Amino acid sequence: MTGAAQLFRTIFGGRPDGVWAAPGRVNLIGEHTDYNDGLVLPFALAERTEAAIRRRDDRLVRICSSQNPQQIFGIPTRELAPGWPAGWAAYVAGVPWALETDVGFDVAIDSKVPVGAGLSSSAALICAVGLGLNDLLELGLSRRELAQRTRRTENDYVGAPTGGMDQIASLLCTEGHAVLYDVRANSIEQVPFDPPAAGLEVLVVDTRVRHGHADGEYAARREDCERAATALGVRSLREIGFADLDSALGRLGSKRLVKRTRHVVTENQRVIDVAAALAADDWSSVGELLTAAHASIRYDFEASCTELDIAVEMLLDSGAAGARMTGGGFGGAAIGLVPSALAYEAEHTVRAVFADNGFTPPNIFTVVPSAGATRIA
Ligand code: GLA
Repeated sequence: MTGAAQLFRTIFGGRPDGVWAAPGRVNLIGEHTDYNDGLVLPFALAERTEAAIRRRDDRLVRICSSQNPQQIFGIPTRELAPGWPAGWAAYVAGVPWALETDVGFDVAIDSKVPVGAGLSSSAALICAVGLGLNDLLELGLSRRELAQRTRRTENDYVGAPTGGMDQIASLLCTEGHAVLYDVRANSIEQVPFDPPAAGLEVLVVDTRVRHGHADGEYAARREDCERAATALGVRSLREIGFADLDSALGRLGSKRLVKRTRHVVTENQRVIDVAAALAADDWSSVGELLTAAHASIRYDFEASCTELDIAVEMLLDSGAAGARMTGGGFGGAAIGLVPSALAYEAEHTVRAVFADNGFTPPNIFTVVPSAGATRIA
């Protein structure tokens, strides 16, 4: 029996109608580009969030989770409204709201995706519940439609102004691939991504510095990008091509907006270049592009932090082909593309340097490109 099904039996009694699981993601490259209509290249983790769900005959939604055992919520569907309840349960309650259904259900959650690590634990939770309700209530939404609706849960119900990458990754990734998502074109391409075949591992260093997307910094970066687009007279920064970058920067008065714009435009180009390097099996270029992306997010987008910078530096010192922060930033995780033979040593080095600096001990683990959300029971 799955963890969520077990919790379901303990709290609600009996069996769920089904159990759905959705993964967190690592964004290989393309950071803070999604809400600029840009390009991203995430892949799904093997680590998942499970939702065990049973339909009810009335209009009540009951929610519990292994991670928050002291809280059980019971909310009539007519009371579902943005902001209610506060905290983690909003990511569940906001799903029927975004799917516009008033059918009641019981749901038990169990998650293996680290929370607040920049690995999309929130999208994993939303998408597990979303896929479950879509199946169970026979709503007939495609995965692409479901990604759009579940994004509304995060943006409009929870109030986190995130882009659409995480829901796309959680719902549409496939094993052994990263997904190239072009937001402006609304197109998706599966890009083969198999580091072990090249003798490499993707090592994640979760710094355990916690970020929150509802916090001000993410929203402030987003506003900077919108301001820059307005100043340049374009709909979004995606409209600025790499070749036009210098002339665009010359038209921006604010140094801060110059830096934000330079990050977004060069990052879009790096996504294209990484996809091309992967197709050419050119892993050293992939690595160099990841490292360049970190410098860009650190100095131009100013969305890194000391722990992330040190993790990246230590991964590179330990022989990584490339390393960068991943996810929203201001904490969370860094990734390194590390030769498998050096992974143990790299982990040891990062741990030692974190200890020397008096930082919280990091969580360090290897991730493999895995499948998107699915029904598991
Ligand atoms: C968070 C958001 C994503 C994306 C990244 C930054 O993970 O949820 O939509 O904006 O930050 O690339």
